[in-house]
Amino acid sequence: MLNSENLIRIAIDGPGGAGKSTIAKLVAKELSIDYIDTGAMYRAIGLKLSKNNVDIDDEEELIKVLDDTEIDFNKGSVYLDGIDVSDQIRTSEMSMMASNCSKKKLVREKLVSIQREMGMRKSVVMDGRDIGTNVLKDAEIKIFLTAGAEIRAKRRYDELLGKGERPDYDRVLKEIVERDYQDSNRKLNPLEKAADAILLDTSSMSIKEVADCIKGYIEKI
Ligand code: DC
Repeated sequence: MLNSENLIRIAIDGPGGAGKSTIAKLVAKELSIDYIDTGAMYRAIGLKLSKNNVDIDDEEELIKVLDDTEIDFNKGSVYLDGIDVSDQIRTSEMSMMASNCSKKKLVREKLVSIQREMGMRKSVVMDGRDIGTNVLKDAEIKIFLTAGAEIRAKRRYDELLGKGERPDYDRVLKEIVERDYQDSNRKLNPLEKAADAILLDTSSMSIKEVADCIKGYIEKI
C-alpha cells in the first residue's frame, strides 16, 4: 500500500560493494523518482573535514564545519558548498573517512535530518546503512542487499581497474572487511537489516536480476 500522499519511499541498505547504488539508480530511473545516495553525504563531510584539517574529535570545530556546509545532488553529481566533488569522494581514503565520521552523533544528526526532510516531500529511492532502521522507518519498501566480502571486493577491484587504476585485491578486501566491521559495530544506527526488510543476497545475481526482483516487490504495492 502507498501512503496517504501517494509517495513511495524505497530504502536500500547494505554493506559497501553490495550493489546498492547501481540498483538504486536503476530503480529510481525506472520509476522516474529521485535517488538519494546518503553515503555520498558522509563522504562529502569527510572530504571537507580532511581538506580543512579538522580533527573529528574536536566537537567545537566539527560544529562549525557542519553549520557551514551545504550538500546538494544535481543530475547524478554531488556538490559540496557548490563544488562538484563526485570524483573526489570516491577514493579508498574517503570511504574510510566517511565511515569514521559517520560514527559521530553531531554528523549523523545533521545528515539524518536532511535525509528525512528529503524523504518526506517526495518519492525517493534512498540507499545507505540505516535508511530502513532509522532514516525512513516507515518506507513502503525496504531492501537489505548483501553479498560475500570476497565478491564485493572483486566488484570494487574490477571497478578500480576499469578506472585505469592498478588496485591490489588483498588490500581492497581488507578495506571492505574493516569498513564492514566498523559500520556494523558502531553505537549509533549501525548497519543492520530492518526486521521488515527483504534480504537479497546478490552474490550470484546479475544487476538485472536484482532490479527485476525489486520491481516485482514494487508492483505488489
Ligand atoms: O555507501 P558508502 O560506501 O558511500 O558509505 C560511506 C560510509 O558512510 C559508510 O562506510 C558508512 C557511512 N554511512 C552511514 O553511516 N550511514 C548511511 N546511511 C550511509 C553511509
